[in-house]
Amino acid sequence: MKIAMFSTKSYDREYFDAVNADFGHEIQYLESRLTPETSSLADGFDAVCAFVNDQVDAQVLGDLSSRGVELVVLRSAGFNHVDLHVASELDITVARVPAYSPHAVAEHTLALILGLNRQTHRAYNRVRERNFSLEGLLGFDLYRKTVGIVGTGTIGAVFAQIMAGFDCRLLGFDPYPNDECRDLGMEYVDFDELLAQSHIISLHCPLTPQTHHLIDAEAIDKMRPGAMLINTSRGAIVDTRAVIEGLKSEKIGHLGLDVYEEEEDLFFEDLSERIIQDDVFARLLTFPNVLITGHQGFFTSEALTSIAETTLQNATAFETGEGTLHEVTPERIEPKS
Ligand code: NAI
Repeated sequence: MKIAMFSTKSYDREYFDAVNADFGHEIQYLESRLTPETSSLADGFDAVCAFVNDQVDAQVLGDLSSRGVELVVLRSAGFNHVDLHVASELDITVARVPAYSPHAVAEHTLALILGLNRQTHRAYNRVRERNFSLEGLLGFDLYRKTVGIVGTGTIGAVFAQIMAGFDCRLLGFDPYPNDECRDLGMEYVDFDELLAQSHIISLHCPLTPQTHHLIDAEAIDKMRPGAMLINTSRGAIVDTRAVIEGLKSEKIGHLGLDVYEEEEDLFFEDLSERIIQDDVFARLLTFPNVLITGHQGFFTSEALTSIAETTLQNATAFETGEGTLHEVTPERIEPKS
């Protein structure tokens, strides 16, 4: 089928071309983000392939529908950027990549924790300047610390397994407890107890109306003083302004982010020659105990191969009715209970 692929980079082309040799879809790689201004580029295509910061809202879906697009394949697990109700009304099928490499994101979460704790990003710069002072680099043993995991689905479970390897005590909060995590010794507790007890809190739930600003001033207030907060899930699960206050008051001891609530204007682009207009983001960069990466949790060769395979398989399943179509429907954004 004819697929217009938005927000593509060189690595998307490389991995999709390799995998598409077995599928034979006709892919047009577009560098533009999908927005109301660019959706006309999908004219004449059967499907649109979108990434996390593409705009797949009512306006864009309406335009895509009028141009004959019947399928939106997301090359991501998260689908919070899609108006599923409108897609359903317009009879546009939406499919995603439910799991590609949960290890990629879980291992990157660990990279943020270890980097923040032992300050490897600061040590790297110091040593290059021949500054071998250890002042300010003091860390703590992860051994037997309490790690609170919010969302113990595919990625949360792999992350739990990794932290079990450090002999950490595991607390979980999820409306649907996972037996795999229980087998690792995870104790499911309510959200407030997880906040109060955890040395490290890591977010692995999807962004939904229920999880928007889940970490707000009230939640921060309930945390253990000096807690480490890690978000590799979606930016808006965290109220960034509240987190900045938490860092200023030293209630939050370390902050690791791979996602940011206003990331669509920043991430995935080289802005090194530009002035950052986002003052909230700029403030975050001033803290020595904040480590930010630009949404690279998914970025391993295994994950890119798997994303390309499942995305093209979704297109084939839609076209031929054969194989698995990983469809997301409006019901998926409601709590499962
Ligand atoms: P999943 O669907 O397997 O697991 C999500 C878990 O969160 C489920 O067990 C669900 O019951 C739970 N959950 C839902 N609402 C909750 C709530 N209010 N409180 C606590 N738990 C709740 O999803 P998966 O594959 O583990 O991915 C998790 C998230 O990671 C995705 O939604 C996506 O936003 C993010 N992600 C980030 C990437 C990155 O590159 N940084 C790459 C891939 C995913």
